[in-house]
Amino acid sequence: MGIEVAVHGLTKSFGTQTIWEDVSLILPAGEISVMLGPSGTGKTVFLKSLIGLIKPERGRVMVDGVDMINSPDRQVYAARKLFGLMFQDGALFGSMNLYDNIAFPLREHTRKTETEIRRIVLDSMETVGLAGDEKKLPGEISGGMRKRAGLARALVLEPEIILCDEPDSGLDPVRTAFLSQVLIDLNAQFDTTMLIVTHNIDIASTVPDNLGMLYRRELVTFGPREVLLTSDDEVVRQFLKGDIRGPIGMSEEKDAALRAMESAVPFARKAIPEQLAPTPGLPPRQAVWRRMDRVMRLLPELAPAARDAIISRHLPGAKE
Ligand SMILES: Nc1ncnc2c1ncn2[C@@H]1O[C@H](COP(=O)(O)OP(=O)(O)OP(=O)(O)O)[C@@H](O)[C@H]1O
Ligand SMILES: [Mg+2]
Repeated sequence: MGIEVAVHGLTKSFGTQTIWEDVSLILPAGEISVMLGPSGTGKTVFLKSLIGLIKPERGRVMVDGVDMINSPDRQVYAARKLFGLMFQDGALFGSMNLYDNIAFPLREHTRKTETEIRRIVLDSMETVGLAGDEKKLPGEISGGMRKRAGLARALVLEPEIILCDEPDSGLDPVRTAFLSQVLIDLNAQFDTTMLIVTHNIDIASTVPDNLGMLYRRELVTFGPREVLLTSDDEVVRQFLKGDIRGPIGMSEEKDAALRAMESAVPFARKAIPEQLAPTPGLPPRQAVWRRMDRVMRLLPELAPAARDAIISRHLPGAKE
């Protein structure tokens, strides 16, 4: 079973620029979570903070008893092996073919033989649909294939926690749909805890168990997917609809005068899309049952719309 990641009161600045303040959340073990947020709100900085590559000034990130921010380097390095990170830009070595790129973490961090490495690399390339492309160089393949190669490389050390930074950027809608399925299938096979940063509303509404959003230097919300997807919050609604009307502007928050000129945006709540199921033949996602138990206990604290959405999903027929 995956491992929980508990973030407490995290604050990060660069010089005088505060990126975000007092961020607290829990990535429940084995569940899939998505973090949304406009460009520049510090999503990549957040992912890098979780593995201790960036050190926030305040707060803790607890993983398997280790504080990724404040523990001694040796402990942080050891705990980092629990994570697989898929970087925003793929971060492949241009001069190495895909096979060697994907084998790299195994050669670097383990004492496995080349025979063992071969089996693992081919398995993981198969998982992301790159079987047969071992000899290709990163410069010879499409952006979508590079993304998948980055994901395959994140998988080879059998991480308990997978972090994906905009796995969909540069992908067409069909490839994005395939990628969503790959993420769900991975979770079903390995019960991995996952955090996906994305701008893609289809992924956000069909893949995760939990959804959060960073905006204006804080975590606007984080919780069961139904909470954000039924939210009345103007920022959340504008983002989910991709609307130019609302508090989010091109570079930063809009000024009050411009906001006043906009007519009120009518709000029609739509039904929440179904969450994707694993490909037939794969085991069911174990997280579904754990999550059901967890959100049922949260119910009394949730807004009515979120509560209704959860009840009608888990206890169909219970309403009315
Ligand atoms: N090493 C650094 N030194 C100084 N400032 C940085 C550093 N890394 C990031 N920043 C700043 O932190 C802010 C958040 O950057 P980040 O890359 O996390 O945004 P993001 O939410 O991932 O955006 P996008 O959606 O465009 O990828 C930006 O203003 C960026 O300039
Ligand atoms: Mg980013």
